[in-house]
Amino acid sequence: MLLRQLFDHETWTYTYLLACEESGEAVLIDPVIDQLERDIKLLSELGLKLVYTLDTHAHADHITGCGLLRQRVGSKAVIGASSGAEGADVFVEDGSKLKFGSIELEVRATPGHTDGCVTFVTADHKHAFTGDALFIRGTGRTDFQQGSAERLYRSIHDKIFTLPDDTIIWPGHDYRGMTFTTVGEEKRLNPRVGDGKTEAEFTDIMDNLNLPTPKKIDVAVPANLHCGIVPASSMSGDPLPERGWAAIERTPEGIPEVTIGWVDDNKGAIRMVDVREPDEAESDGKIEGVEVIPMGTVDEASKAWDKEEPVITICRSGRRSGRVALELEKLGFKRIASMRGGMVAWQSQ
Ligand SMILES: [Fe+2]
Repeated sequence: MLLRQLFDHETWTYTYLLACEESGEAVLIDPVIDQLERDIKLLSELGLKLVYTLDTHAHADHITGCGLLRQRVGSKAVIGASSGAEGADVFVEDGSKLKFGSIELEVRATPGHTDGCVTFVTADHKHAFTGDALFIRGTGRTDFQQGSAERLYRSIHDKIFTLPDDTIIWPGHDYRGMTFTTVGEEKRLNPRVGDGKTEAEFTDIMDNLNLPTPKKIDVAVPANLHCGIVPASSMSGDPLPERGWAAIERTPEGIPEVTIGWVDDNKGAIRMVDVREPDEAESDGKIEGVEVIPMGTVDEASKAWDKEEPVITICRSGRRSGRVALELEKLGFKRIASMRGGMVAWQSQ
């Protein structure tokens, strides 16, 4: 089995790539949306086909890459049935099995950090991917998202510490530069749940951690309950996720793009700016509801716009609108994308 530990330095998140080397079938555990290009590049370099993305739970600190990876490479999104998430392809529960190539993962329900937390264990019990249930000399927190110290204590003791002592633990995060541990090591050395700590002692520790709320919780959790993609129709009211608001794909030049299908689904709910000259837009046809603001005047017009508001740029072929999208991004607009292929693609559809 090929196994790679990948790191997102902004949220201290580990993503794991597992692959069957004979068949080339691969899975990613806990992919981070901001690392999408890195992960896709690695898969293609290694000649692997991503069949599943597995979320150990609905994360509070980052947005999952599962939904966008499904759009980009056709992988199936997997998450625990008790997570409350919608739109995944496979919902797993305690005892579920996942197969890719010759590799089988068993699912163990390990609630406590959240209700829907699961641990993925290879069939040979050599590797366990514990998400935020068990860390190296630590555990996930239990003070939000249905957290329960009692349940986490039971999950760790019944579902993780029952594995062989030499099972390698691959955690969802580490904040001290450590990379992996073993069941035996944590049973002896984990200051919260190891070394004979009782459930009451664990609960007492967890009740007195006084941790700050994760920065991205208000945007990450709603997005992660939809595979990391928030439909535009549900965008009013709550703050929008910085990246998860649309199915953005970046060109090699870094231009954020959405497909004409996405624009068709979301038109009416978002600001659409047609950057062609007015006579061109009139004679060649335009999408209902667009504002025609020629390329040279967008900078000036955008001064009146809210930088948090989603904006889609449109032109004839997608070239000018792509340049404008990049420019607006530099000006601080957070939710900006160009319609790929422009009106040529729109009209041919
Ligand atoms: Fe978490």
